[in-house]
Amino acid sequence: LLPQIDRRLILSRMAPPLEIDTAFMHRAIQLAMRGRGTVEPNPMVGCVIVKQGQIIGEGFHHHYGEPHAEPNALANCREDPAGATAYVTLEPCCHSNKQTPPCVPTLIAARLARVVVGCLDPNPSVNGRGVEELREAGISVEMGVCSAECKQLGSLFFTRALLHRPYVTLKWAETRNGKIAGPGGKRLQITNAAATHAVHQLRAVCDSILVGAGTVKNDDPLLTARSVDAKRQPARYVLDRALSISPDAKIVTDMDALTTIFCAFSRESAYREKRKLLESYKVGITNITADGDGKLQLTEALERIADDCRHDLLVEPGPQLARGFFEQGLADRLWVIRSSSIEVELTAPGAPVIPPHFVPTAQIDLAGDLLTEYLNPDSPVFFAPLPSADFARVITKPDSF
Ligand SMILES: NC(=O)c1ccc[n+]([C@@H]2O[C@H](COP(=O)([O-])OP(=O)(O)OC[C@H]3O[C@@H](n4cnc5c(N)ncnc54)[C@H](OP(=O)(O)O)[C@@H]3O)[C@@H](O)[C@H]2O)c1
Ligand SMILES: [Zn+2]
Repeated sequence: LLPQIDRRLILSRMAPPLEIDTAFMHRAIQLAMRGRGTVEPNPMVGCVIVKQGQIIGEGFHHHYGEPHAEPNALANCREDPAGATAYVTLEPCCHSNKQTPPCVPTLIAARLARVVVGCLDPNPSVNGRGVEELREAGISVEMGVCSAECKQLGSLFFTRALLHRPYVTLKWAETRNGKIAGPGGKRLQITNAAATHAVHQLRAVCDSILVGAGTVKNDDPLLTARSVDAKRQPARYVLDRALSISPDAKIVTDMDALTTIFCAFSRESAYREKRKLLESYKVGITNITADGDGKLQLTEALERIADDCRHDLLVEPGPQLARGFFEQGLADRLWVIRSSSIEVELTAPGAPVIPPHFVPTAQIDLAGDLLTEYLNPDSPVFFAPLPSADFARVITKPDSF
């Protein structure tokens, strides 16, 4: 899945420079992915310092609030970086209204000759100024090397910066014969142990999770990441127009993660009483506008999730909710698990239908269950049909790429 640098290409004096630049930028992308799950809400960024065709230093952004990729790579250099080229997946930062010092002055002080930048930072405090300041200091700056790949790497960060909503991933499991639940919508264990483990790994990297009320009533899920090394638990959100879920539901009584219920405001006393009861369990209740056909507005729910500083939403939908996201063009990515062994009666509810324009970007066999990732090429934050960093993380040991 992840391209490897061809040593012969780097050492050959005849090799075209773009291929060499591409190979080093791919290495920077690989490094950046190691920050997934710990850098947010910052972007994943990787940096490689190259002198005379050899990598002399590598770095990536490890944790939010800690040094960025560029100073990390410079600090790791095994020789003086003066005259070297830095490959960095995102435009180096130049603004000082943040926790860490800006990277542009550090790159200038290291007397680099050239900086190859994967893509511009959409943050208005940077957006082209970082490149400008490097050029003003006499450093040659190259743009456009793997720019689609670098933007795709930054798609979670771009979503929040440009759209004020989280990046939306829909995830579901379906039986061998395309069903999402048992007959009458009854709860059914579809995934095997390996696929269930992968689901928990995927949950562990997302910062928020959304389900419909139907799923809470039928399945009573906990929606936490379990049996994996979770750095945090995703905040839980439920779409429940009439505030109908039971106060005994696990997501209400469990205190391992926050829960917010989106509902429509009502003047009825039953609404007030139910609201008070749920709030006594520390559940947040947020009123959302219902549209003409009585459904809560998904765009408004996404805005409220972004207001809570969540930028990476995993939706575990039933067929109805999935259709809503597809119809409104709000699904950026899908993770679909297809069982190879479980089959149920034909009367059971069918799995969501994937719109035909979605492109499959990655697939893995999990002891017989097949996990496939799809991206939506019509999404404003789609840049390249490439496997996401999350997928790479689930299928690879983090330190091996
Ligand atoms: N296999 C899996 O991976 C998986 C995952 C999830 C669910 N399921 C199964 O799917 C079944 C439930 O499917 P479902 O689609 O009826 O339930 P759902 O996805 O839980 O959605 C139902 C509720 O979500 C809200 N909703 C749905 N579409 C909406 C839209 N476009 N805009 C706003 N709100 C919307 C509605 O709430 P209000 O009526 O309150 O407005 C609706 O009642 C269950 O049997 C469950 O077990 C399976
Ligand atoms: Zn920086």
